Amino acid sequence: MRHLMSPLDLSVPELEKLLDLASDIEKNPKKYAHTCDDKRLATLFYEPSTRTRLSFEAAMMNLGGKVLGFSSADSSSAAKGETVADTIRVVSCYADICAMRHPKEGAPLVASMVSNIPVINAGDGGHQHPTQTLTDLLTIRSLKGRLDNLTIGLCGDLKYGRTVHSLIEAMSRYKDIQFVLISPEELKIPGFIRYNVFENQGVSYTEVSSLEEAMPKLDVLYMTRIQRERFDDPWEYERLKDSYVLDTEKMKLAKGKMCVLHPLPRVNEISVKVDDDPRAAYFRQALNGKYMRMALILKLLDEAARNPAKEAIDTTGLEYDRVCRNPKCITQTEQELPQLFRCTDKAADIHRCVYCEQRA
Ligand code: NCD
Repeated sequence: MRHLMSPLDLSVPELEKLLDLASDIEKNPKKYAHTCDDKRLATLFYEPSTRTRLSFEAAMMNLGGKVLGFSSADSSSAAKGETVADTIRVVSCYADICAMRHPKEGAPLVASMVSNIPVINAGDGGHQHPTQTLTDLLTIRSLKGRLDNLTIGLCGDLKYGRTVHSLIEAMSRYKDIQFVLISPEELKIPGFIRYNVFENQGVSYTEVSSLEEAMPKLDVLYMTRIQRERFDDPWEYERLKDSYVLDTEKMKLAKGKMCVLHPLPRVNEISVKVDDDPRAAYFRQALNGKYMRMALILKLLDEAARNPAKEAIDTTGLEYDRVCRNPKCITQTEQELPQLFRCTDKAADIHRCVYCEQRA
């Protein structure tokens, strides 16, 4: 059985097929209106969401299926201390597929390890958000006509922004991609992305702090919100929250065909006046989320029907004798979980937690 934890769980050809399916769904919605008539999607959201949860639910309804679930940890048995693994074992009895959002990094992976139904990571802490990335790719492909040969600026909270991590990993597999990483010093991309993408694969990137300076080069500008809920120190958030504001003056510095993306919600990092600029694509992006999630639900249900056997993670070479110290890792709150590490660099003796990808 296939699950979706990271965009890298899909090969590039699979991704292309999925994008094509989403485009076909958009053009011919009637063709797909009863493809999930007897199916149920569970949305298990332990963290706030508007777009992701509602677009998953709308996606399943548009396929003729039904939805059930919860939209906050307080209204689930997590409030009574139930583990993620027990919750998914129970949910597997009531639903055919599930989308899970959780504040702890690696929680959906824990679910996928015991689940009898496909699990989709709908955002785990500051780690990954693969379905937002599918949406971003569909939007970029439809606006630019390609996913290669692009200069992509990512601006704002690159440290805690899970959408940024997943998008960088996904885009790094296409040819001639240049990343321009625009952030304050304190919010630069985390070590696991720096390692996975930039050091290991030699993908081209520059790090700058000025949005104005980066603007003229960009084909795509991906703005992000400073992730208040992930800061340990609220004053640090106050100090950094207005680091970047995209306004009509800055838009004058950009190429005529650049496009502005944002996973939303926006706080004040994009002035509302920019919404009228034809290059602003973030609301169109939100609509694409529904088509993309329809395509993903269809693919994972189809694969589950053809290969229903439970698939644990690949345990070859895993190490069990270390402890993850990332306070945001699921192993910190669910202490009975086995500690699992993978050596990612023998020469430098680097071992990363399988759940959250932080170094031991
Ligand atoms: C993003 C998320 O939840 O990570 N939102 C979304 O899913 N569209 C971005 C954010 O919250 O800033």
